[in-house]
Amino acid sequence: MKLRSWNTILKVFKHIGKKLKMDTKDFTTPLYVIAVDDEPFNLELLKALSLKIYPDILTFDDPKEALVHIKKHPVDIMLVDYMMPYMNGIVLMKEAHLINSNILTIMITAAGDNEEIKLLALNEGAIDFLKKPLNAAEYRARMKNVSKLKRSQLILDDFNHQLEKEVARATQALIQREKEALKVLSNTAEYKDPETASHVSRVAHYSRLLAKAYGLDRHEQEVVFNASPLHDIGKVGISDAILLKPGKLDEDEMKEMKEHAHIGMKILETSENPFLKAGAIIAHTHHEKYDGSGYPRGLKAEEIHIYGRITALADVFDALTSVRPYKKAWSFEEAMDYLQEQRGKHFDPYLCNLFIKNIDEIRIIHKQFKSL
Ligand SMILES: [Fe+2]
Ligand SMILES: [Fe+2]
Repeated sequence: MKLRSWNTILKVFKHIGKKLKMDTKDFTTPLYVIAVDDEPFNLELLKALSLKIYPDILTFDDPKEALVHIKKHPVDIMLVDYMMPYMNGIVLMKEAHLINSNILTIMITAAGDNEEIKLLALNEGAIDFLKKPLNAAEYRARMKNVSKLKRSQLILDDFNHQLEKEVARATQALIQREKEALKVLSNTAEYKDPETASHVSRVAHYSRLLAKAYGLDRHEQEVVFNASPLHDIGKVGISDAILLKPGKLDEDEMKEMKEHAHIGMKILETSENPFLKAGAIIAHTHHEKYDGSGYPRGLKAEEIHIYGRITALADVFDALTSVRPYKKAWSFEEAMDYLQEQRGKHFDPYLCNLFIKNIDEIRIIHKQFKSL
């Protein structure tokens, strides 16, 4: 690509950077340039020619030393002689590019070198050639172009880096807003419910722990964490007379109460948001039982979505170990006995094992969210 086109592209990028309020750099600082030639005289000549353009040019008469330097220090441009005793310029260039693929390499060829060598060097990644004996004016003109190209590359790399950071920041903000909306939604569900906010927090944490122990990946663990607090959202559709009734519900009232599973699913199922979609599954399945005796569909074992099986266990365990207007809090030991007794009946037996195995962490979560 011609340098003029590069400059136009760079202007566009700078403009976008400004619009996005990105902290783009100009890279007017000196470039790191090295020269490698087995002839010290040639290196002295290069130094002399570079006095004005690269006053800090570093020279190496041993290719191995040059490679050691590249490993430890930044290098932008490398001038390399083709004909060297034990490592020719192409081999050195390949090794150097393996260490730092952003180095721009200019191959210096002698008059006797044939065209095949030039072609090979180009194919292996050299961007330009200089012929010995070096012509001072040509050297400076070519190096000016190479420097421009390098600076363009640095600006573009920086732009990409800044853009990636910007996208990550924007995505994070979006996720944060999504989570806030979910929190508001689960707060709404809790508003009419005698259960407390700390109940949903504990259910969320217990559920995530179970999801992890079960082997669900990190994304699904997050989904379960954010969606499980919505398990009772359907209670917004149940009348206060039933929801807040102090005594036992009669058969009809119980029938209406059970509707909350279906209502919750209906509220959430149309959403494209993965958390709300998972919330719909959880709302619909958190009262199913492993042996098929649950509601609303009487699903059995693996027919019940894993999110539902996880939330069912977390929800019941937390209800048992919490104070409710009609009961005192069970001890962890009593609740664990209940889990054992309900293995394969109410709960997935494998999840019961995992829950009991991780009981120390469960205790920590229980303590942490006790006073909310
Ligand atoms: Fe429920
Ligand atoms: Fe609950």
